[in-house]
Amino acid sequence: MAMAQALVLSPPSLSTCSSANSPPSFLCKSKTHSFAHIVLYFKPRKAPKLVHYYCINPILNQNQNMSYNPRASPSSSNSSITSHESRWSLQGKTALVTGGTRGIGRAIVEELVGFGASVHTCSRNENELNKCLTEWGSLGLEVTGSVCDVSVRNQRESLIDSVSTLFDGKLNILINNVGTNIRKPMVEFTAGEFATLMGTNFESLFHLCQLSYPLLKASREGSVVFTSSVSGFVSLKNMSVHGSTKGAINQLTRNLACEWAKDNIRCNSVAPWYIKTSMVEQVLSKEDYLEEVFSRTPLRRLGDPTEVSSLVAFLCFPASSYVTGQVICVDGGMSVNGFYPIHD
Ligand SMILES: NC(=O)c1ccc[n+]([C@@H]2O[C@H](COP(=O)([O-])OP(=O)(O)OC[C@H]3O[C@@H](n4cnc5c(N)ncnc54)[C@H](OP(=O)(O)O)[C@@H]3O)[C@@H](O)[C@H]2O)c1
Repeated sequence: MAMAQALVLSPPSLSTCSSANSPPSFLCKSKTHSFAHIVLYFKPRKAPKLVHYYCINPILNQNQNMSYNPRASPSSSNSSITSHESRWSLQGKTALVTGGTRGIGRAIVEELVGFGASVHTCSRNENELNKCLTEWGSLGLEVTGSVCDVSVRNQRESLIDSVSTLFDGKLNILINNVGTNIRKPMVEFTAGEFATLMGTNFESLFHLCQLSYPLLKASREGSVVFTSSVSGFVSLKNMSVHGSTKGAINQLTRNLACEWAKDNIRCNSVAPWYIKTSMVEQVLSKEDYLEEVFSRTPLRRLGDPTEVSSLVAFLCFPASSYVTGQVICVDGGMSVNGFYPIHD
């Protein structure tokens, strides 16, 4: 079998590989190299064929201070001098969190603002929203809010208009958190119930992404995070429609990650199992059911909203700037549980 071979004719001089944005110091790509610096790949019995203009220099590779950034990214162009503080901070960032007055959304608002972001949130209940805004204000937290039902098209448009005005046309972070649930066998779903779940859980965030795109792009460093669910991965009783909406979110996450990468907008999802919020209070009030939940959850407990919000914050930090298109479960191990009996 013919094997490709590489021949390095001569190492380059230091001066050929020392610019700030040059390729890895040991792997220089330049059309300016003389023939003597070129790696040739050739197959036996055939004429040598030039494949790449690479040269290899192990001496340069030992110089740890040299920057190598083919098509550089992280926000600051020189990652070696990016400070720890700025990679783990949201100082100066703008964020919209939908459904921020209770549960996971509220924890996300408080997490992001705690790391320095300016946050806008929304919910349908004006009194509850105002109460939250007052509480946050008294703590000195920079949060604003709008009354908005995200399942209604023109209310979504007004929301993004407000956000655009508030943040000067630039949005770094969009957290599509709102979601609802109707539990019943799929054959019993009415057309109206189906439309409610699809409209609230999927159509709303699809449209919010469309509306937010110019703002995210203008920020030059965008992060979109969806609140999905383990129901988008595994079967849960009476949750066929809910699971379908979350499965759609998971795929939208992957598609947008690729479609918007050119604009430096990352897209990821968090997928919780049972988290202690008002949404699941009723179903978890049944002792037997709760025991079954524990038995399916390796960590043997429910999650706390802050255990979701911390992951969301990470996905917004510059520290996660190479993470995109991922759906990450926050589930105490539920989604990877095969068969681990409690009594064995
Ligand atoms: N809790 C869990 O165990 C769990 C598990 C998996 C996934 N999730 C997902 O996590 C997300 C948040 O759930 P959660 O448990 O935190 O819910 P929650 O405690 O019921 O809080 C929902 C928040 O969203 C707001 N909201 C609901 N519908 C809205 C609408 N149409 N327009 C605007 N705001 C709306 C609510 O305020 P108003 O009612 O005043 O509008 C509230 O602020 C959802 O996407 C859910 O599917 C939750």
